[in-house]
Amino acid sequence: MTIENLHPSFWVSSVKAKKYPEQQATVAVDVAIIGGGITGLTAATLLKRAGKTVAVIEAKTIGNSGVSSYTTAHLTEHLDTDYTDLLRNFSKEDAMRAAFSARYATALIEQWVEDFSIKCDFARVPGYYFTEKEEDVDSLRAEFESARSLGIDAALMQEAPLPFKVKAAVRFANQAQFHPTKYLVALAKQLEGDGSYLFNGTRVLSVEQGEINQVQTDKGIVSAASVIVATHTPIELSILQTELTPYRSYVIAIRPEKPQMETALFWDTEDPYHYIRRVKDKGEPLIIIGGEDHVTGDEDDTESCFTALEAYARERFQFTDVEYSWSAQYYDSVDGLPYIGRSASAANLYLSTGYSGTGMTFGTFGGQLISDLILGKENPCADLYSPGRFKPLAAAGNLIESGLNVIGKFVGDRIAAPEAESTSEIEPGEGKLMQHNGEKLAVYKDDDGKVYVMSAKCTHAKCIVHWNNAEKSWDCPCHGGRFDATGNVKNGPPTMALETRSLSDVAQPVAR
Ligand SMILES: Cc1cc2nc3c(=O)[nH]c(=O)nc-3n(C[C@H](O)[C@H](O)[C@H](O)COP(=O)(O)OP(=O)(O)OC[C@H]3O[C@@H](n4cnc5c(N)ncnc54)[C@H](O)[C@@H]3O)c2cc1C
Ligand code: FES
Repeated sequence: MTIENLHPSFWVSSVKAKKYPEQQATVAVDVAIIGGGITGLTAATLLKRAGKTVAVIEAKTIGNSGVSSYTTAHLTEHLDTDYTDLLRNFSKEDAMRAAFSARYATALIEQWVEDFSIKCDFARVPGYYFTEKEEDVDSLRAEFESARSLGIDAALMQEAPLPFKVKAAVRFANQAQFHPTKYLVALAKQLEGDGSYLFNGTRVLSVEQGEINQVQTDKGIVSAASVIVATHTPIELSILQTELTPYRSYVIAIRPEKPQMETALFWDTEDPYHYIRRVKDKGEPLIIIGGEDHVTGDEDDTESCFTALEAYARERFQFTDVEYSWSAQYYDSVDGLPYIGRSASAANLYLSTGYSGTGMTFGTFGGQLISDLILGKENPCADLYSPGRFKPLAAAGNLIESGLNVIGKFVGDRIAAPEAESTSEIEPGEGKLMQHNGEKLAVYKDDDGKVYVMSAKCTHAKCIVHWNNAEKSWDCPCHGGRFDATGNVKNGPPTMALETRSLSDVAQPVAR
């Protein structure tokens, strides 16, 4: 298993993605789409169907490598931001539009599953928002009332079809689940040809804006009248990054000794919350459980998040082994709704980000909204999700908190003591921060003892990266940029690898 794929998700492991070529020549299309996850492929499908030529430019593997392939793929009308909170900060009409967009996205996926005959285990199932704590029952009841006031088909229950006792649950009718990579790989298949392109292994380095944008990749140039940045969080420097907080979330898949629970979606009121669903693997059920979220870079021992999640599962389900485990990242916006629309910097550059943990629906809706903007069509949620929208007062507190957090990390990590004085203190397969002549260095020792030395300054906005022991990656706490153990970009805003440094910088114990 390569370091790149240390924890492949069940979705990635169970699908063979088509190998698209790297970009080989300069191409010109109507719309360049950076990123081949659910946002990019939804937009590409809609635009191609409307007669536009598109180029989907993906740094790794289209439909089988982004967060859309490391998700849990619940399709719920309930958002990460409770409706009770949404109604506090937005009008009732806005909250209704947010619920509509989630419903619309699920219906669009269902429609395409039929239109393109996609075998991706799409199923309409109920969703249960539950609590095991007496003290959360009142807030759950309030959420039920908020959902009902928005016309959502919800029912308050005293139990949920789980193998453990709950204190209360809100049942949402007609939610859905699917196999995300089967869906995305199939969507991609119908995009090639007729002047459209799909490029794997092609990383976008920058976008030179103009009437015709020049998208500079590591393989050449794609020129396009419109560009969609569908990279989950904007690449390069963007003012929007100050309004996004990156979180890591952890997932395990267990093989239960008996079915143990209904095929439905479950999530609880804990903070961070747990989320649970079932899937069929080779005809047998697997139960997928997620949780243990934390702000990226805030947890020193990320392996412990998997241990805690397994302990949570063992208290509630009967199983012998954890069959799969993976982790991935999501981004919270300051006001609880995503940013989808035109970039503040250019009229023909579009962004879609800040989905929190409900990005399979928001990503689908983001693809729809952006393609509507490009095609000059009205969309009922354009103003609600506009990146430049007026943010409610409550968002100011979150913005200040997130800004202080970034400043704290930017300054604090620079003056923190190094984690090792010598490479002899680094175990094979481990990374540690060292220091040389005042510079923080990210030092990784591979399983054979070879040492890699890099500047620890993230190439995005120069925060200091942290070692993630579960994923063997260097993660940036400021805007969620991630690099593999030897410094190559994995995901997030950076487009350049960590700068390499000489081994001689760390060969000897360093005087401070
Ligand atoms: C653990 C976890 C569980 C989740 N569960 C759910 C759930 O149950 N339901 C739900 O609705 N949402 C869920 N989400 C959220 C959801 O999965 C994401 O919001 C969604 O997948 C984001 O899709 P995307 O297409 O915007 O981004 P991605 O799927 O990440 O796609 C972006 C693509 O852009 C590529 N890229 C990045 N930079 C460049 C570059 N410079 N050049 C070229 N390509 C580039 C990346 O390689 C990637 O393939 C979950 C998230 C996590 C972390
Ligand atoms: S991701 Fe922005 S500084 Fe690292």
